[in-house]
Parts: sequence; C-alpha cells; structure tokens
Amino acid sequence: MTLNAQAPAPNAPSGALNIKALAPLMGAEIFDLDLSQPLDADLVADINDAFLAHHVLVFRDQSLPKDAQVAFSENFGELESHVHRLRSGEKRPALHVVNNLDENGMPTERPRTTGNYFWHTDKSYHAVPSLATLLYAVELPPSGGDTLFANTKRGYETLSAETKQQIADLRVEHSWEASRLNTGNTPATEAEKRDRPPVVHPLVRTHPNTGAKTLYVGMHTSHILDMPEDKSRALLDMLVDHTTKPELVYRHQWRMGDLVMWDNRCLLHRADKNYDMAAQRRLLHRTVIKGSLPF
Ligand code: OGA
Ligand code: MN
Repeated sequence: MTLNAQAPAPNAPSGALNIKALAPLMGAEIFDLDLSQPLDADLVADINDAFLAHHVLVFRDQSLPKDAQVAFSENFGELESHVHRLRSGEKRPALHVVNNLDENGMPTERPRTTGNYFWHTDKSYHAVPSLATLLYAVELPPSGGDTLFANTKRGYETLSAETKQQIADLRVEHSWEASRLNTGNTPATEAEKRDRPPVVHPLVRTHPNTGAKTLYVGMHTSHILDMPEDKSRALLDMLVDHTTKPELVYRHQWRMGDLVMWDNRCLLHRADKNYDMAAQRRLLHRTVIKGSLPF
C-alpha cells in the first residue's frame, strides 16, 4: 500500500477476505472485519466459501454485543435455542451462555452441563441437527480452556477399505437421554425426553454442500441399529478414537475478541479441561444455526 492509499472502509466488499490458514486440515483466522456492522452480501458469500473450505473460522479482534452476534449469525440461516428450557417453561432466547459457573456464579469443576468436554457434534440428537455453532469469548482463563476440533471427513477417508464397506449403510440412534448417560450428567428429565425423542442418522454422512463423506458419531450416540450392544459400542468408540487422533485435530487457543464459527457436519469438537476450572472463569456467548436432515 502506498502512503497516500486510503484504508479500505470497514467491511467493504473487497471480494478478498484477509484470511490465514491455522492448520492444514481445518481452521483459518480472519482479520479486519467488524462483525458488529451489517455485512454486504458479497462478504457473506466470501465467508461462506471460507467456511466450507476451512470448517473452523476464527474472526479476530471482535467486540460483539449479544444482539450483534445474533444478527451476524442470522446471515447463515435460522437460529436454534438451547434444549434446556427456562424455569417458566419458555424456550430460551437464541443466544445463550456457555460457562463453568455454579448457581452462585462461582467457577466449578462440575458445571451444570459437562457434556461439552466430550467429543460431539452439536444437537445430533435432533432429527435436524445444527449446521454451525458460533462461540464468542467473553471471559477466559489466563491460559487453557481450549476448544478442540476433529476432522471427520479426514477420519472417514483414512479408514481401511474394509471398514468403509462395513459401515457404509449403518444407521445410528442418537438421543439426549444417551448423551446425558454417556457423559455422566444428571439423567434427562421426563419433559426433556418428551421434547427430544431418539432420532436415527446415517453413520456415514454426506456433507450437503461439498458432497464429502464424514463420520457422524460422538457422545450423543446411543447405538447402531441391528447390531449387538457391545459390538455397537466398540465400533462407535473405535470410530471416535480414529477420527480424534492428534493429527486430525486442531486445538483452538482462545484470545479475547475471538468469535469462532464451526461446521458441525464435518467436525467433532470438545472443550478441554486444561485450566483450573474450580478457580478460573470461562464464559462464552453461543449461537447455533439450524441445519438440514442428514443423509
Ligand atoms: C458448544 C461447545 C465447547 C467449548 O458450545 O457447543 O461444545 O469449548 N463448546 O466451550
Ligand atoms: Mn458443542
């Protein structure tokens, strides 16, 4: 840039994002965008392209009020509220908070939901699960509290031909009830079970935008249909272990100002307990975009 050149206006539709890959298999950071301002349609299209190419997008240096995060998220589809209802029975608002705090707002090793610390893909216990999740860092521990992402497309690709054949047509039951059991959480309530009956998804999922085959597994799974229980659990565990090997994982080390957006259709993710959960606060704002029926 010459000395006289004008700095581009914020969010000008340049057609070229300032983007840098973070790791070979997934993850890219994007600079010089102010997501609290409305985005031009060209820019939304650029972000969508980057999202499909990199699966995890990290928008640096954001300052995002809740309503701005909701407005930004709505560029990518319809938003979903969380499975837990408010005490009044009403559904929760589109943005909710992910944290490690107890009822008194104090950090704890046993927050109400510890499920996020196990490998999963968001809301796979829904017939129509989540397309993308967006997390915005509000309070972070001095170090750690990372989020890990595993590439389930690469996981599928690196299976043996024999395993690919074995799992090609398998179908898996996912449920909120199984999820609570798998993660040692308090069991699902009767109301939650009524709200979220079990659903069945293909084990090998096809990404609706890229056509890639991915492994659709994780902690919300109950069992593979038409297979003995022990064999089903062993196969599901083997596939999770396979697709979460270190070489298939990107570790996101949060910075204040990060908004991270990821593709639930080709990734597993989990929070890491690599911080002092009982003493340090970690709080993020979350929005979730509804996806489409897995096939
Ligand atoms: C989520 C989630 C992980 C984290 O919000 O869906 O799994 O690192 N979060 O908090
Ligand atoms: Mn999650």
